[in-house]
Amino acid sequence: MQLKELGNTGVMVAEIGLGTWRYKGEAATLRAGIELGATLIDTAEGYYTEDVVGEAIKGIRDEVFIATKVSGRHLAYDDVLQSAEESLYKLGTDYIDLYQIHWPNYSYPIRETMRAMGELVDRGLVRFIGVSNFDIDEIEEAQSFLNNYPIVSNQVRYNLNDRSIEMDLIPYCEEKGITIMAYTPLDDGNLTKQERLFKSNKMKVLSEIADECSKTMGQVALNWCTSNKHVIAIPKSNSLERTVENCGSSDWRLSDEHILRLNDAFS
Ligand SMILES: NC(=O)c1ccc[n+]([C@@H]2O[C@H](COP(=O)([O-])OP(=O)(O)OC[C@H]3O[C@@H](n4cnc5c(N)ncnc54)[C@H](OP(=O)(O)O)[C@@H]3O)[C@@H](O)[C@H]2O)c1
Repeated sequence: MQLKELGNTGVMVAEIGLGTWRYKGEAATLRAGIELGATLIDTAEGYYTEDVVGEAIKGIRDEVFIATKVSGRHLAYDDVLQSAEESLYKLGTDYIDLYQIHWPNYSYPIRETMRAMGELVDRGLVRFIGVSNFDIDEIEEAQSFLNNYPIVSNQVRYNLNDRSIEMDLIPYCEEKGITIMAYTPLDDGNLTKQERLFKSNKMKVLSEIADECSKTMGQVALNWCTSNKHVIAIPKSNSLERTVENCGSSDWRLSDEHILRLNDAFS
């Protein structure tokens, strides 16, 4: 599994992680993904999957990188601290590697939210602070209230069918050394569906490139995401077979020509 630096932290993380929103699979499937090198697992208090993640990492805590999230409804100072404690309990660990704010919520002063996030790092309960679904202004404002720690990642929707962040967010994060964690990187499975080939030219291009690389369409779609050195992707699958397939989207690279053809087809 190819590793990438998380922000400017010096800490290396897997470029393909395991998403767990609506995860219905077993702990053993996550464990298989971890064994194949997908050692970054993404969860959230709002997913109700922290306990299955906890089960999957039992006995191998230090080999995995756990990213979880505080809900946008719990951004008051005390609520952030309480949510973190509850996540730690469900995950069965005494530290969270990356604690992310799931959504911005203007009902709560971001100054107080960030004060709580900093406090969690000070107390050793959280290693790194991240955000999710934040635009540039929201990142800047959040960072302005964090004196001692950088925001190291922004988890946002990014896939061949949704490239809107390429306009401004990706260049900004590249400049600031903020890792983009691409969610819904398979467009909820739409980029893997053979039956869509008959409907659209872009899917034909994806399929042709998959054939040329002897990979699946899903693997090409994930490799396209991670072809940017600041991007890691967190596909979710309930199935062992598809988890193995998704892990196989690392350790090789699409050529520049393939990337150009994909960008052109999915423009
Ligand atoms: N921060 C946020 O607001 C936010 C929002 C959405 C998602 N996320 C994170 O991002 C993760 C991934 O996003 P997502 O779950 O929305 O979408 P996704 O990973 O793009 O797609 C998941 C769907 O694709 C299917 N699938 C997975 N691998 C496949 C493969 N190799 N071939 C064919 N089908 C495949 C899955 O079905 P099976 O399970 O049956 O394989 C599932 O239906 C989430 O689990 C979550 O951790 C974060």
